Amino acid sequence: MFAIAIDGPAGAGKSSVAKAAAKELGFTYVDTGAIYRTIALYMLENGVDIEDPAAVTKALPGVEVSLEYGESGQRTLLGGRDVSGEIRTQKVSMATSKWVAHIPEVRAFLVEVQRELAKKHNVVMDGRDIGTVILPGAQLKVFLTASAEERARRRTLQLEEAGEQADFREVLREVVQRDRQDSAQLDLRPEDGVILDTTGLSFRQVVQELTSMARGRMENKAGGSE
Ligand code: DC
Repeated sequence: MFAIAIDGPAGAGKSSVAKAAAKELGFTYVDTGAIYRTIALYMLENGVDIEDPAAVTKALPGVEVSLEYGESGQRTLLGGRDVSGEIRTQKVSMATSKWVAHIPEVRAFLVEVQRELAKKHNVVMDGRDIGTVILPGAQLKVFLTASAEERARRRTLQLEEAGEQADFREVLREVVQRDRQDSAQLDLRPEDGVILDTTGLSFRQVVQELTSMARGRMENKAGGSE
């Protein structure tokens, strides 16, 4: 199997870039953030106090999370129920990034779930600790990043395109705050990874850069000079 690990801060474009690269390479795109979000959804639905790590840890064995892959990409299941839409609400996003993702027992609980997926498929897996903790043996590790201003600019455009009011300075403040919340604990840079700074690059350029690196590594692997 061939695994590509993509880590990096929120808003660097990991999921859209990873999804497009996976499609071009014929790989499975695995969105690991969806698994963390599903844990948060379970806790919220079952009245578990999300701010109490001991209570969350105690409830973990009840969470049955699985991912399925089909024509329309990844579907996230909680106890067999498709929750792909529900995990995208603002409430779940906040509960995940502020609380659930920071609990070591949650992270440990999810290691095997994520590793199993990379055993069954050639994957492009995106997350925060994929190249360091989950798939340290990945054939290609990329740390995707962009300046806070660039990430805020992209987010502002996205909001405007969705017909929402967006103030660049307000969005930038949120990006910086989210970085503070996440970066120290979650964003781990693989020492043997490639840092891809996408500031000033177009979406196509980033996808091309990634797929050409992947093809290079695959040729090396096929040639036995890994
Ligand atoms: O990528 P996302 O926004 O769907 O991720 C949701 C939250 O989960 C975010 O706060 C980062 C965290 N996360 C993590 O800690 N480790 C991962 N492998 C993936 C996501």
